[in-house]
Amino acid sequence: MKRVLFVCLGNICRSPAAEGIFAKMVKDANLENLISYDSAGTIAHHRGEPADGRMQEHAKQRGYELLSRSRKIELLDFDKFDIICTMDTNNFRDVLELTSNEQQKSKVVPMTQFCKIHEVTDVPDPYYGGDDGFRLVMDILEDACSELLISIQHEKL
Ligand code: 4NP
Repeated sequence: MKRVLFVCLGNICRSPAAEGIFAKMVKDANLENLISYDSAGTIAHHRGEPADGRMQEHAKQRGYELLSRSRKIELLDFDKFDIICTMDTNNFRDVLELTSNEQQKSKVVPMTQFCKIHEVTDVPDPYYGGDDGFRLVMDILEDACSELLISIQHEKL
């Protein structure tokens, strides 16, 4: 079993979208018994909330359903998950600060590292912007999720 955790700031836009996209790809590949996933935020501000309505709408337009409820990342997550994918440089730094050993650190990877098409270092925070920002999040995450799945299938992770 490979267990993947997607992490952004609020856990209402980017990481719920990553989780929803990855969920569909895992399901379509018939790998639900081998790969599990969840998402979390580095802040608890939106705890218990579903994904942002704008993010849900953009995901729905591409055939994905976002089912997550916002939660903050916790120390136990470093034991529960094998791969922790962070959405931007701030998330990467904040998550690394929570780690206490090299094994935990090695699990933390920038989501954009998996991109094949997009040459970016961050999945940009869409929260205060317009539709273009949400579309870009979907574009980058579809690219990254697809390669993340391939990496797991090829046992590179
Ligand atoms: P996310 O987006 O990190 O992709 O979930 C944000 C959600 C909430 C806030 C900022 C970004 N906020 O400032 O409340």
